[in-house]
Amino acid sequence: MKVGGEAQRPIWVNPDGWSVGIIDQTRLPHRYEAVTLRTVEEAARAIENMLVRGAPLIGATAAYGVCLAMRMDPSDVALGHACDRLLGTRPTAVNLRWAVEEMLGALYTQPRGQRIEAAYARAAEICEADVEICRSIGVHGLKLIEEAAARKPGEPVNVLTHCNAGWLACVDWGTATAPIYMAHEAGIPVHVWVDETRPRNQGAALTAWELGQHGVPHTLIADNAGGHLMQHGLVDLCLVGTDRTTATGDVANKIGTYLKALAARDNGVPFYVALPSTTIDWTLADGFAIPIEQRGAHELSQITGRTKWGEIVTVSIAPGDTPIRNDAFDVTPARLVTGLITERGIAAASREGLAALFPEKA
Ligand code: MRU
Repeated sequence: MKVGGEAQRPIWVNPDGWSVGIIDQTRLPHRYEAVTLRTVEEAARAIENMLVRGAPLIGATAAYGVCLAMRMDPSDVALGHACDRLLGTRPTAVNLRWAVEEMLGALYTQPRGQRIEAAYARAAEICEADVEICRSIGVHGLKLIEEAAARKPGEPVNVLTHCNAGWLACVDWGTATAPIYMAHEAGIPVHVWVDETRPRNQGAALTAWELGQHGVPHTLIADNAGGHLMQHGLVDLCLVGTDRTTATGDVANKIGTYLKALAARDNGVPFYVALPSTTIDWTLADGFAIPIEQRGAHELSQITGRTKWGEIVTVSIAPGDTPIRNDAFDVTPARLVTGLITERGIAAASREGLAALFPEKA
């Protein structure tokens, strides 16, 4: 999508042909800075410290992390160490495991001398496939926005989203945002309620930024405001992403998603989850079996922002000795999900619904 009118992706291979460029998402929206990854350790730290984040982008970064490892040492031992290191970075998004397994599958049978080339080729394919998948999600999800627009001619369709499931979280288009970008480009009036998404504020910092860069009308709201807006008929549709979806349609997404789904159900607002099939964990039937990442206390006790003098500072917002628990994701049961928007179409959030679209996996 666009930054300052120029097409941009959140990950790329630099002109040197091997090092990997990423946008440092911890600096947005205040600074737009590229960072270069040269080793698998740097790739792993970029994932852990959330310079890159969002399920599909974590997978893409891990794929390039394997490339960087192979460049230093294409042995079986190095391949195994690289995969273990990357798999240990973040536990919830299953795209990470998927991408690492794809890389292993592509490299395992290759002779050492061909592993570097094969690794970069497979990582590039993973990225291009993600772009095409997200574009297809956009095409299918666009129909929902078109239907909502037809019910209120001339008025904007109000979509509520949580966290950042935009192009910054993928390779392009985003998942939840793909239908929104397509509606905007088709001239359908669409307006997005952007949940701030405490504690890391991915909505305020990232979703608001990328929608703004692309010219999509949006309004930032406090995390707790969504239910209130729904009660007042101000939300036509909820559209969120997911980090892992079970074979039965339960979805794990950024903490707070479940509360939006509850409010949507209470107010008769459709609640859709957009996902590439790489986010489905076909081995799980129960959302509560999804590992939920526990992150550091500082994410809750501190907040970072820009002062009016342009300085970026971090300040404490809680007593220093307050005990803190920081669950990064929650699980929305399938019964609260109106539908799953995938690259193959919209499925009911159930084993049968997913199996009908992906018979070869089910
Ligand atoms: O902790 P994050 O920022 O990686 O969490 C991201 C989300 O929860 C997204 O909604 C999810 O990964 C879907 S991205 C298309």
